[in-house]
This record gives sequence, C-alpha cells and structure tokens, in this order.
Amino acid sequence: MRACAWFVVVAVAGLLASTAGLRADGSGDPAPASSDDGKYLDKAGNPTFRIAPDGTVDWYTSIGYIRYTANCLQCHGPDGLGSSFAPSLVDALKTIDYGRFIDIVTNGKKNVDTSQELVMPSFGDNPNVMCYIDAIFVYLRARSDGALGRGRPQKNDPRPPGYSATEDACMG
Ligand code: HEC
Repeated sequence: MRACAWFVVVAVAGLLASTAGLRADGSGDPAPASSDDGKYLDKAGNPTFRIAPDGTVDWYTSIGYIRYTANCLQCHGPDGLGSSFAPSLVDALKTIDYGRFIDIVTNGKKNVDTSQELVMPSFGDNPNVMCYIDAIFVYLRARSDGALGRGRPQKNDPRPPGYSATEDACMG
C-alpha cells in the first residue's frame, strides 16, 4: 500500500512538472526575484542561480560546483550526470523541489530492489556539506535547468561581503 501511494505522489509531481512550462524545474520558475548578500532567491523564496549573458555565474553557483565535486561526484558522477553508483541529479532536480532535496541530503535515502541496493548517505551532521547545501542546490539547479554546461564555471561574481563570516559561523 505504501509503495503504491508513493508512486501516485511521484506520478502527480511528474504531471505538474511537465505542465509547468519550459523554463521551470522541480522548484518552479528559476528566475531570480531577490538577492541577499550574493545569494539569489526565486519568487517562491527558494535559492536559485543567476548567470550573466557572458557566462559569469553568481558566487553560490561557483561554490556549489566545488562542493559538489568534493562531496557528491564520487557517486553522482561528474557535473551531476550520474554513474553506476547513483542517479543523475541533473535529471532528479527536474522533479525534486528544494525542500525534498534538503530532506534527502540531510536524512539520506535507501532504495532496495532485487538487483542492487542503492544507499544515499545522510549528510545532516557533516558541515562540509550542510554549510554549503544551498550552494550545491543552486549549482545543480542551474545544471538541471540547462543554464550551465559541464565543467567548472569559467567566471564568477566576487565573494559577497558577508560570506566569510557566515561560513565561519556555520563551520564552527
Ligand atoms: C556513497 C554514494 C553517494 C554519495 C557520496 C552521494 N550520494 Fe546522493 N544518492 C546516492 C544513491 C545510491 C542514491 C539513490 C538512492 C535511492 O534511489 O533511493 C542517491 C540519491 C540522491 C538524491 C535523490 C535522487 C532521486 O532521483 O531521488 C539526491 C537529491 C542526492 N542523492 C543528492 C546528493 C548530494 C547533493 C550529494 C553530495 C552532498 C550526494 N547525493 C552524495 C549515493 C550517494
């Protein structure tokens, strides 16, 4: 029964995503509506990316690339494209919203089927991930949305004035 109900939720989410329009991902329209010390938010208040016409990415997207590469690439593959160990996050973020993303990274996820056992570790007590979780999200959101190509972003906005103090406070 539970598996059945879960499937219905996924099917409905997929339907919503497919009717939401072209420039939208699992979190909706990614267009920045506001910003706070270099972090951009969409109109729903979820973290988003901002990429200038010349390819310059916001600070958080560039940090997200670095942190993704250090903590997630080993399973989810280069540039979020997936590997034999774990699914593509470029695909996953087309349907998973910000809240679901935070939940999965914080608490982990386990999928047991007959052929293989896939485990997403929980990172909730790992500051190297949790202090950068919004950055990792916006990087993957930009990848999922097709706004950012493969590899390291070549140009990025300067470090926001309050960034280092916030980072130090989080890392303890
Ligand atoms: C040790 C390997 C491993 C590492 C490291 C890892 N993951 Fe995962 N992740 C997995 C596996 C395996 C799954 C699939 C679990 C499932 O299907 O239930 C998964 C699933 C996910 C999902 C859900 C995808 C979906 O389609 O439902 C998200 C989001 C995710 N991981 C994000 C991350 C992020 C962000 C990082 C880095 C901070 C990370 N993962 C690091 C193995 C890993």
